[in-house]
Amino acid sequence: MRDLTEATATEAVVGQLAGCDNPRLKQVMASLVRHLHAFVRDIEPTDAEWLAAIRFLTATGKMCDDTRQEFILLSDTLGVSTLIELINNRKSPGATETSVLGPFYVEGAPDLPMGASIIRNDATPELRVHGRVHDATGKPIAGAMLDVWQTAPNGMYDVQDPNQPVMNLRGKFTTGADGAYEFLTILPTPYPIPHDGPVGALLTATGRHPWRPAHLHFIVTAPGYRSLTTALYFEDDPYVDSDAVFGVKDALVVRPLPRDGADGLRVCYDFGLERKG
Ligand code: BEZ
Ligand code: FE
Repeated sequence: MRDLTEATATEAVVGQLAGCDNPRLKQVMASLVRHLHAFVRDIEPTDAEWLAAIRFLTATGKMCDDTRQEFILLSDTLGVSTLIELINNRKSPGATETSVLGPFYVEGAPDLPMGASIIRNDATPELRVHGRVHDATGKPIAGAMLDVWQTAPNGMYDVQDPNQPVMNLRGKFTTGADGAYEFLTILPTPYPIPHDGPVGALLTATGRHPWRPAHLHFIVTAPGYRSLTTALYFEDDPYVDSDAVFGVKDALVVRPLPRDGADGLRVCYDFGLERKG
């Protein structure tokens, strides 16, 4: 392994993995080395540029703590989270498209009666969200649980905002025999992903904005079915075609309709779950 040249450097490093007895780790590391070397050959970074990259990754790590995961934001804004989600959720026809989970999901949202409001302060409900949970053949699923969460009108989730009650705009609903679900809420608003750190600086430097289109998050689970993590987006949203984290899929974009006999709007959306295994 002496006298590495540009031509031999990559395979020299890969060769050092010969003693790795974890086959998956060996495969992953060999591919990482080959792709990383190919990237370096492609861009031929100057020493200053490589140091800037190291400094960027160092700052990204330093920004992380129990409540802030800057590396996930980096993965999200580079489209890697969505690509991994697409790979791991190749689905059958009849199952609903998936979308990014995001960092603001929290366990333990209150179980609410069907039709209840997820608003925990004095805001007025303005949106009724309803539909059915069904299997890939369209048969209703009883006992499916929908865990829903969204932002307040200031663009913040309860966990980001000390002025919101705990569990504001979060709730869990369990379907009955007809697979139907229904809840009341406010209209979500577009919001910027946290952009006061290195990822925000990178977005700015590359001419990108940090905004996500307004959305409602859902995790839909039912015994015997694969868990579905998804979100609904709105057709006329200014960011629906430029989501900073690439979560929007056409099949998840809805257009609210006026509510019959009541003020406000409604969204009707059916969720299809795939059987496990
Ligand atoms: C969210 O939708 O909550 C989200 C997703 C990715 C990054 C930041 C926020
Ligand atoms: Fe979100």
